[in-house]
Amino acid sequence: MDRINSKNVKAWNAEYMFHPFASPDATAKEKPLIIEEGRGAVVYDIDGKDYIDGQGGLWNVNAGHGRKEIIAAIEAQLHKLQYYSLFGGTTHARAIELSKLLVELTGQEGMTQAFFATGGSEAIEGAIKLARQYWKLAGKPERTKFISLQRAYHGVAMGGLSANGTPAFRAMFEPLMPGFIRTETPYVYRNPFTEDPAELAQICAMLLDRAIEDQSPGTVAAFIAEPIQGAGGLIVPPAEFWPLVRKVCDKHGILLIADEVVTGFGRTGSLFGSRLWGVAPDIMVFAKGINSGYVPLGATMFNARIEQAFRNNPDAWFMHGNTYLAHPLACAAALANLDIVVKEDLAGNAASVGGYFLERLRALQDRQPHVGDVRGKGLMIGVELVADRKSKAPFESSDGFGKAVANRCRDNGVLVRNIYDTFIISPPLVLILHPPPLLRAPSPMLRTGEG
Ligand SMILES: Cc1ncc(COP(=O)(O)O)c(C=O)c1O
Repeated sequence: MDRINSKNVKAWNAEYMFHPFASPDATAKEKPLIIEEGRGAVVYDIDGKDYIDGQGGLWNVNAGHGRKEIIAAIEAQLHKLQYYSLFGGTTHARAIELSKLLVELTGQEGMTQAFFATGGSEAIEGAIKLARQYWKLAGKPERTKFISLQRAYHGVAMGGLSANGTPAFRAMFEPLMPGFIRTETPYVYRNPFTEDPAELAQICAMLLDRAIEDQSPGTVAAFIAEPIQGAGGLIVPPAEFWPLVRKVCDKHGILLIADEVVTGFGRTGSLFGSRLWGVAPDIMVFAKGINSGYVPLGATMFNARIEQAFRNNPDAWFMHGNTYLAHPLACAAALANLDIVVKEDLAGNAASVGGYFLERLRALQDRQPHVGDVRGKGLMIGVELVADRKSKAPFESSDGFGKAVANRCRDNGVLVRNIYDTFIISPPLVLILHPPPLLRAPSPMLRTGEG
């Protein structure tokens, strides 16, 4: 088989491979960056050039690249049992161990059960199905609707896609599922209501309440949201928002689903995003940081309220699941990964390193006229660039300003992801705490920290 090299890469990539969230023309025009190796918070491209992984893969590599403990756990599992099914009365030890550990870790949030998936989108579908079945079992089958936030991102499968709050993600796949309604997100930097975060939280909670009333509360199954919105532009809600949301959900008896696919396992400086806001949801959805991307895995967890509806009822079958959920290699990786997350207090490291980043970025805001807003929690940070800071006017999308800045960062040895003109800084949570043993002598940029 022909091996790829830096000369044939551009042509092969454009010719054979269809990329996610991209147009084939753009892929053909732009030379892709081929990542070949990684250690800690540093990755290397096919030519051996090093980069600080400011993206953390796709905000999932919480414990860092090349962690020997995780690799050893996967290898040991591979030698023992590469696959067995959880269907029809069989299971395997790593899935059982992991479900127990997850229930223990989420004890404060009241989760009692774990159901596995192969990634975030699928775990979201599990949450949607669980919520609908819960209401059928509870004798209220007309409660089928879901309310989500504008700018929400809940993955690419049809249920999560229908809850997504960014029109560009949905438009080409319509019609979506019926019964999905969106309400206003508490975006402090850009909203038509107020500059006061606490007041904005009240307003958005009131609008959620009104949206539920408008649908007729007896038809609503659940409200679903990310504790901090990610792909929709990194929107940190005011601290008052989630507790108010819990109250509104309780008032109408509806379930609260926290999509913790990004916020789970330390990224926000707290072990979970829900914990950051002091809220116990009914369902928590995990993926990404659950095993730092070593093998795909997702999990949908739920509390006793939902569990009880399924117990003592021989007809309560959850008719959902697929071949690779709780893959033994993924579960083994998760067990080793979560051990690192807890023992090395990666949430604590994210809080302190993230706090430093926020401070330095805010200082930059004073000097740099195009830095409109700096926001974040832990190592989940967004920097919104604007054409004019005073009016907050964005750049014309045709300017490609965000892309140009991202490219400049890449040229200087730092990978950061831009969603239009908002930059997402989400490195592995081991950044700085554990300077990784580098594969090769670092480039001058990494050595001096210039640029
Ligand atoms: C909040 C959130 N939910 C769900 C998903 C979907 O996860 P996956 O890409 O693993 O399907 C993502 C992916 O980025 C996400 O950010």
